[in-house]
Amino acid sequence: MRVLGVESSCDETGVALYDSGRGLLAHALHSQVDMHQAYGGVVPELASRDHIRRLVPLLRRVLAEAGSTLADLDAIAYTAGPGLAGALLVGASFAVGLGLARGIPVLPVHHLEGHLLSPLLSADPPQFPFVALLVSGGHTQLMRVSGVGAYELLGESLDDAAGEAFDKTAKLLGLGYPGGPALAQLAESGRPGRFKLPRPMLHSHDLDFSFSGLKTAVLTSVRERPLTESEKADLALEFQEAVTEVLVAKALSALAACRLERLVVAGGVGANRRLRSRLDERGARAGVRVFYPELELCTDNGAMIAFCGAQRLLAGATAVCDGSFAVRPRWPLAEC
Ligand code: KG4
Ligand code: ZN
Repeated sequence: MRVLGVESSCDETGVALYDSGRGLLAHALHSQVDMHQAYGGVVPELASRDHIRRLVPLLRRVLAEAGSTLADLDAIAYTAGPGLAGALLVGASFAVGLGLARGIPVLPVHHLEGHLLSPLLSADPPQFPFVALLVSGGHTQLMRVSGVGAYELLGESLDDAAGEAFDKTAKLLGLGYPGGPALAQLAESGRPGRFKLPRPMLHSHDLDFSFSGLKTAVLTSVRERPLTESEKADLALEFQEAVTEVLVAKALSALAACRLERLVVAGGVGANRRLRSRLDERGARAGVRVFYPELELCTDNGAMIAFCGAQRLLAGATAVCDGSFAVRPRWPLAEC
């Protein structure tokens, strides 16, 4: 089965072709980072318009790279939520229009489910069941994953997501958008010991998170006096350490609570090198194996949507092609 995946939930346009027998045939991505940079964050209307511009050229590229034509497609999967309403509508109408033109089924996919299953696209995929740590720009969640579509929420952020905290803290430190990678890079030159930030909810005896206080603590440090470049790097390092420590501790607690030994890390913050090395280190000591998606599939992409759509269809999901579609800007994963 050959499934085209379309991702347009935020600031990347992704298209990919996945074959259930042969694996990922091709994927192409356009990032809107340069366009939104001038505004210090994503401008939803500009995001929607840019998705419109990019989808057809990306589709052509993917088909050419895969040596396929539209006639080879068996189904189309698109991100139906969560995300920016206008941006989602662009991908949804593109997918449904194409499906109608070709007379093939079209399947709405949950963006976070795409992230969650993305490590299964790697050469050495994890077996079910596993615990997933989902760390994206809008979500920080721990889930027990027993199979495709079987997701149990174990804990989540009560306020800011980890990615959001990275982005807001980066802004406070005068770094551009997107803040996560910029802050991580600054932290590389930081030294420990100069600043001490809290580890929110580290000992809360549950699997929930809270990162907004951390950002406020950074704000307090920034407001006290102008920071030198090396002080900013030290603060970035301490911030990254605080987030990492909490994420690692809670992920290990979730594994212990579920009596599982496999952890999957997905979402943009999963690209963070410090988080990866601490998870690997602490995981190895606890007898836990940690699985990540390929680095290029950590952030938003069409491949995870094509893959997720294919898995859903193989598991018996019904997909129709009657021209109807809906997007869900807010959509809890447990409801998908
Ligand atoms: O999964 P994603 O691409 O989009 C959403 O679905 O939200 O995640 C984007 C988030 C942003 O907050 C970005 O700053 C963060 O992931 N991010 C990182 C890194 N790369 C991306 N955060 C920390 N370190 C990184 N290396
Ligand atoms: Zn995402």
